[in-house]
Amino acid sequence: MNVLVVGAGGREHALAWKIKQSEKCDHLYVAPGNAGTAEIAENVAIGVNDFEGLAQFVLKQNIELLVVGPEDPLVNGIRDFFESREELRHVLIIGPGKAGARLEGSKDYSKSFMNKYQIPTAKSRTFTAEELEEGLKYLESMSAPLVLKADGLAAGKGVIIAQSLEEAKLSLKEMLIDGKFGEASAKVVIEEFLEGIELSVFVLTDGENYKILPEAKDYKRIGEGDTGLNTGGMGAVSPVGFAHPEFLEKVNQRVVIPTIEGLKKEGILYNGFIFIGLMNVKGDPYVIEYNVRMGDPETEVVIPRIKSDLLELLLACGQGQLDEADLEVDERAATTVMLVSGGYPEAYEKGRVINGLKSLNSGISFHAGTKINEKGEVITNGGRVIALTGMGKDTKEALKVSYKGAEKIEWEDVYYRNDIGQDLLGMEKG
Ligand code: AMP
Ligand code: GLY
Repeated sequence: MNVLVVGAGGREHALAWKIKQSEKCDHLYVAPGNAGTAEIAENVAIGVNDFEGLAQFVLKQNIELLVVGPEDPLVNGIRDFFESREELRHVLIIGPGKAGARLEGSKDYSKSFMNKYQIPTAKSRTFTAEELEEGLKYLESMSAPLVLKADGLAAGKGVIIAQSLEEAKLSLKEMLIDGKFGEASAKVVIEEFLEGIELSVFVLTDGENYKILPEAKDYKRIGEGDTGLNTGGMGAVSPVGFAHPEFLEKVNQRVVIPTIEGLKKEGILYNGFIFIGLMNVKGDPYVIEYNVRMGDPETEVVIPRIKSDLLELLLACGQGQLDEADLEVDERAATTVMLVSGGYPEAYEKGRVINGLKSLNSGISFHAGTKINEKGEVITNGGRVIALTGMGKDTKEALKVSYKGAEKIEWEDVYYRNDIGQDLLGMEKG
């Protein structure tokens, strides 16, 4: 069967890498892809939000399965677009429609969904510009640190954790009145701060049945010791030492099941991945956020731990028969270290030639932001450039593989964190 993966990052490279290993995969395309996906699939120069362009390509190449990587096209309704056209209705799509994608597209909606279905989450209220005064009063009724979230998509930057009431009030005004995040902050969710350790759980569902994929933890800050600015993610590990079976069972009972049931009760046919960002507060899970896609770089550790045929799983999911598919997970640990351009997440240069990829003999390099120049060289094409994934019998061994590989790859100004996974060592499941 012919498959099209939509997206251009490390997540899409990892998905494509695994799909490619399936005997069921005939032709694999990635739109628009990167230098890494070009090695294993055919890149197609169509943007992720060019639905008409993607539709024409799908018809022309007889594509039967469309795997949507990033949130943007999902929130913009790629699934609805395909379903609205008679000639495209046979295409199986992994990714929810617009209604389901609101779980990520609107924080206000996802909070009311969680409250309605009694899914544990931080206490919160939502305010618009007209309700600024009430919002300021609400802030006064809480104690710092305070969490403010732009309602809409803000490229991962829409969350502010204010350390004082003054800072929180200023941020609320900036968001509601000065349009700090544009339309995305026309509404702001104010919520209580949850104290705990974070991890993410990934679910693949056909709307009725579901499979819980390996959990992961990502490292968001640019600096070692979790300092400095937030990024898209500087590394990830799976499994997560503190996610014991009892904790994961709580996640299943209190979060996953009510989420799937809730979607059904809302009449939302959800087919795709759900990424549940969780806080472990003294052994109990609280939902921080939903995303309607896989995480990046979490995918680069979750997917390599899946032993089963991913294409068969996705196919079963698309056909509403996920209960008939097998999910076998590798007991080994996976880690990934993100190599980024110097300056990221602020201004950085693109177009640097990357050395060492060809002679890499440790780990797997998933390309996050690369392309091929006129001379055929692989060059940097983004802030996050290469995710170096390693596997080993435990986190420590996997990290050795990741870092040995990371050392081999270089370009001017390459940077990576040396402490990925360090906080989890010694927490291995027993
Ligand atoms: P989000 O964009 O929703 O993933 O939020 C970004 C980050 O802010 C999360 O990964 C958490 O580290 C942090 N965060 C969000 N909400 C809360 C909360 N209620 N309490 C503590 N930390 C939070
Ligand atoms: N790594 C976090 C995300 O994909 O949103």
